[in-house]
Parts: sequence; C-alpha cells; structure tokens
Amino acid sequence: MSRLVVVSNRVAPIKEGKIAAGGLAVGVYDALRQSGGIWFGWNGEVNKNPQMRTETVGNVDYVTMALNKTDYDQYYRGFSNATLWPIFHYRVDLARYNREEYEGYRRVNAMMVEKLKPLLRPDDTIWIHDYHLIPFAEACRMSGIRNRIGFFLHIPFPAPGIITVIPPHNELLKTLCYYDLVGFQTECDRLAFQDYITREVRGVIERDGSLTAYGRNFHTGVYPIGVVPDNVRQLANSYRERRHLVGYNSDGRRRKTIVSVDRLDYSKGLVERFRAYAAFLENFPEHRRKVEFIQIAPTSRSDVKTYQTIRRQLESEAGHINGRLSDLDWTPLHYLNKSHDRRVLMGLFSRAEVGFVTPLRDGMNLVAKEYVAAQNPDDPGVLILSRFAGAAQELSSALIVNPYDCIGMAEALDRALRMPLAERKDRYEHMMQAIRAADLDTWRDDFLRDLQSFTIHQAVEAEK
Ligand code: G6P
Repeated sequence: MSRLVVVSNRVAPIKEGKIAAGGLAVGVYDALRQSGGIWFGWNGEVNKNPQMRTETVGNVDYVTMALNKTDYDQYYRGFSNATLWPIFHYRVDLARYNREEYEGYRRVNAMMVEKLKPLLRPDDTIWIHDYHLIPFAEACRMSGIRNRIGFFLHIPFPAPGIITVIPPHNELLKTLCYYDLVGFQTECDRLAFQDYITREVRGVIERDGSLTAYGRNFHTGVYPIGVVPDNVRQLANSYRERRHLVGYNSDGRRRKTIVSVDRLDYSKGLVERFRAYAAFLENFPEHRRKVEFIQIAPTSRSDVKTYQTIRRQLESEAGHINGRLSDLDWTPLHYLNKSHDRRVLMGLFSRAEVGFVTPLRDGMNLVAKEYVAAQNPDDPGVLILSRFAGAAQELSSALIVNPYDCIGMAEALDRALRMPLAERKDRYEHMMQAIRAADLDTWRDDFLRDLQSFTIHQAVEAEK
C-alpha cells in the first residue's frame, strides 16, 4: 500500500474535540488519521521567513510552513478568496480580478511543489484538495514528479457561463488536466466541468468515460464527502451538560431550538436565514416565546473586504430581530461568532428540534449530515436544507427549501416544528440510509481506489 500525501492550503491538526474551520479540515483529518501519511500545507501564519515545520501526531506527519505577506495577499486573500471563491459560488458580483494576484497564486503553487518534492517517495499517492491548489499537478509535472496525483474540489464547480468570467479561465482549467483523477462533490459539478472541457476547449469524452483535452487524458468522478455517523452520535451522547444547551421558559418548560452552524461566509445565506426566521415569528406568532434560534458562525477570512461587509450586515440584522422581538425573559435569536468544541456542537444538534441549513451555494455542507447523524433515532429532529447545498442530492428526505424564498423558509420552520413523530422518523431513516451509504470512509476509499486503478500520467501525442 503506497503512502498517502495530502496537500491542502490550510493544515489543521485538530486537537481532539476542537472544531475545525470548514468541512475540508474535518474530512481530511478523519481520512488521514485512519490511513496515516503526510499532511502538507500552510500553517495559517504570515511572516518574513517561512520555515518548514514537522509535527508528528499518531501516524500523521503534519508538515507546514508560513507564507510571506506578499504570497498571503496575492495567493490566499487575493486570487483564492476574492476571485475563485466568489465565482465558484456564483457570486460574480462579489468577485474581483487582479493579474498580479493570479501570478502570485501560480507562484505559490510552484513554490509549494518545490518544498514538498524532497519529502516524496516514488510510490507515494498525492491527493490535492481544493481551489487554492488547482495548478499543483502541473507544477509537479514540470518539476519531474511522476507520482499518481488526484485532486478533489470541495466547493461547487460552476456552469461554464460563470467560470469564463475569470480572465485566465483557459490557462487555469488547463492545469486541472494534469491530474490523473479530478473528483467532485456532485454529478452536477462534474457535468459542469465536463461541459466546460467539451464545449469551451473542444475536449473529448473517451469510451471509458475519461476526458482528453489539451493533449492530456485524465479521469473525473463524483465522491460526495461524508461523516462518520457512529462518531457523531457518540460525540453527541458524550456531552453530559446538554441541559445547558437549550433555553427554558419562566414556567420551566423547555423551548424548542432551531440550530445552524456555519463559517461566517456570504455563500451560507445567513442574512436570508435571519430574515426568514423573523418572517416566521411574524407570520406564525403562536411560536413566539416557545422557540429560539441559535446561529453559531465563527468568523473567517476577516481581512477580505466582502467578509467584513457580510459581518456588519449580520450584526445589524441580528440586532434588529432581537431589538424588535425580544422580551425581558426571551431572546429569539442567539448569534455567536465563537467557535465551539465539536462535542458541544453535536450535543446541541442532538437536542435541537430543527437543523436550519440554507446556504445559497455549498459544495456539500457536512453540518447537514452531522445534524442528522446526531439525532436520537426514537425522537429525531427535522433538517431544513437548501436545494443549493451538495448534500441535498443525497438528503432528499429533508425539508428542501429555496434560500431565496423568505416566506417558503418561514413556512418550512412552522412545518418542521409541528411535524408528527412518525413523519420525522421516516425522513430521518431515509436520510440515515444515505449518510451511511456515503460515509467518510467511502469517500476516501472510493477516491483512492479509483486513483490507484488508472495508469499514471497519460499524456497523448497531440499537445494542443
Ligand atoms: C472551506 C474551503 C476549505 C477551507 C475552509 C476554511 O471549507 O472549502 O478549503 O479550508 O473553507 O477556510 P479558510 O480560508 O479559513 O481556510
């Protein structure tokens, strides 16, 4: 069995129980912990002399480095998070393009390849993660690295009409063809990529389903990332102070809880969600004082302007809702920017009557799966899920909503809170079947099995 070398922009050696920022960290961490190997990438620090550091925890070597200020600004803050992230999430209105940032992005990819190269063994399997590192394989090939290299995109792949907004879209997507396998969260993402390759650059779909473009032959596949359902349930059960997680009325009766947990990001539909909750309290006043909404939204990328704007907007929305609707003994919305221990979160999920997961766009959204997996099978809560989360493809027994439809979401909240036990159980069981069928081990094993099964680095003659 060859050694696994994982590369992602952010390496997050999660201390047991501490929540990581986003689904990638949770997924990669659990996957690597099982198989062992190297996790290589940025340690989150910005300083003048980026030194490599190795820390071994269990069977995983975390090899990390800092970025200098220019690299951080151009590669991370600039092209990755002010160009690619908004465009891949269909927010062309929030995107900007700057050629120097793009060049910085390419430069940092090449620099990371040079730092990784001395650590590699010839039979290592290299698994690259996410939009920060699209050109990584091309830089590897240029540098003479001949290992198998796979790529997994954790975020959506947008329709060709959207992606062509990126000025160097051709040059950028050409680099994806240097992987042996490119994996997506959903078939819809894979098809969008295939559409781009066949229509924009006149690539061909081969008989075995592989693609040939820019003189290179490579494979694509769909690998929905999942959770480890038994671990989630165990964590939820292990949180003993669960009583403190939910509010009580002055008469001692427990309030019903609606819960959401997201990185503070404009793709998550938080403003629309707050407004839908306010509309719910307005239109269905019988729920007032009997329900509370807990939104946990740890901040991220706070030096990117669009994130500062969304944060201000949310603070104003939250203040408005509580100012207008609160009472001396009732706060309808709890809005917290602090990150929380995973045990606390899973405990909270298991106690909450409703999981309210309504992104405007999301690659997968593991919170949706975690919420379901944390439920008590004898008395499960209800998941309200945006049709624009990758998870909606599998969790079709959730209450599926359109996050742009404020009243539709308010009605879904009312319906969820009134849903009879038999229907809740039925939906829960369907969703658990899907969650078990595509759990985290399946995600890792299927991707790596497919990557192993293809011939390495098949360049074809006619380089375009
Ligand atoms: C999303 C992305 C990940 C990223 C995470 C946290 O889940 O898909 O690639 O690591 O957000 O974002 P950050 O910018 O803080 O690393």
